[in-house]
Amino acid sequence: MPTATLTLNGTSYELPVVVGTENEVAIDITGLRSATGLITLDPGYGNTGSCESRITYIDGANGVLRHRGYPIEELCEKSSFVEVCYLLVYGTLPTQDELEAFARKLKSHSLLHEDMKKFFEGFPPSAHPMTVLSAMVASLSAYYPDTPENVDLNIVRLLAKLKTLAAFSYKKFIGQPYIYPRNDLDFTADFLHMMFEVPSEPYEPSETLVKALDLLLILHADHEQNCSASTVRMVGSSGADLFASISAGISALSGPLHGGANTAVIKMLQQIQADGGDLDKYIAKAKDKDDPFRLMGFGHRVYKNYDPRARIIKRYVDEVLQELGLDDPLLDIAKRLEAAALEDEYFIERKLFPNVDFYSGILYRAMGIPTDMFTVMFAIGRLPGWIAQWKEMKNDPKTRINRPRQIYQGERLRHYVPIEERSAATPA
Ligand code: ACO
Repeated sequence: MPTATLTLNGTSYELPVVVGTENEVAIDITGLRSATGLITLDPGYGNTGSCESRITYIDGANGVLRHRGYPIEELCEKSSFVEVCYLLVYGTLPTQDELEAFARKLKSHSLLHEDMKKFFEGFPPSAHPMTVLSAMVASLSAYYPDTPENVDLNIVRLLAKLKTLAAFSYKKFIGQPYIYPRNDLDFTADFLHMMFEVPSEPYEPSETLVKALDLLLILHADHEQNCSASTVRMVGSSGADLFASISAGISALSGPLHGGANTAVIKMLQQIQADGGDLDKYIAKAKDKDDPFRLMGFGHRVYKNYDPRARIIKRYVDEVLQELGLDDPLLDIAKRLEAAALEDEYFIERKLFPNVDFYSGILYRAMGIPTDMFTVMFAIGRLPGWIAQWKEMKNDPKTRINRPRQIYQGERLRHYVPIEERSAATPA
């Protein structure tokens, strides 16, 4: 087995080297502290592998993304979201019988306990659907206790119920009556029906919308050890149950630097449009270190090439808009902004390309999904990935409670001074 040598103050230490199936190489520092008393420092964990995983492979330099070995391009073209859920959670593609049985289970568990509706009623009307979703997923533990015998069933329950919770969060947000799931509809069509049906007007989702949404969900299904997946693993490593761990993942996803970027992109494009479409001004703002503005939907911790998911969405967005007979002026701004950024030295040097969020919002808009729901859509898509990551963490004998260390840079020892003396020393 290859090793790496660390030399410190004249003493050398041999550290094992781990090589992955795609030849990624890591120095295993598990024994570093006990051998040397040292820790490593890596704010933001950009150089830290937190686990060995068999779920998703990303080659950021070459824009490659594969789930369980299958390229994202093939899954988008040939698979369905439900099949990708099965693949991620159980590790293999299902047979016809397995897929049908799985899809049936997702239908039969899609109802919520009626009492949960009281929770929705308790939120203020302005509650963001992402906040409601995270709280509702955490509260599932109260209805479906976590016992070793229940783990598989709770996984199916969560996959089945998240879309109902998401649609109910939206109905709560806009003040419409909740629409219950329909077992005659497939997963994606059922979600659209729960979102858009009103009691006075039955809603049959068009094939174009179902196909477009299914594709978006597949594109978001997993992305290895990103902020929310790592959160799910970290919370789960303490022994917290599935629902608590996934609820934490949803909260992590809500931030504008992560899943919230899809909303931020649309707001940015609208701002540019309202400001007369002056792209140069916004490119200059993004480059200015004294200006907090960033080009949302651009850049990625891992991809230093075009995000393959953004490439797929970009190709598809024109087709969907055309099929729906829509013309979105924001798409034109987005394309021109991308072209301008990709020619700019600042973005070229830093290898900043569009990420999955740059075009996904435009597709959601075309489907009639409001901006406040974009991050919730991301959460529905990402759920199978979070579950797969949680399950893998649970079953990995190397899992220990996640507990990073730190380098303390604070005050050195000092002694307590009674408040009277402190006050006397600092006159008001
Ligand atoms: N606009 C302008 N400059 C950028 C951008 C951007 N969108 N992204 C990175 N940079 C610059 C940084 O200022 C930095 O410049 P410097 O080297 O001169 O200091 C350099 O590029 C490297 O950026 P970091 O912030 O160090 O990269 P990091 O890996 O920490 O962050 C992130 C990645 C958060 C995605 C960042 O690119 C970003 O903020 N992008 C916009 C938000 C976004 O689209 N998030 C969605 C990510 S994908 C997802 O979660 C689904």
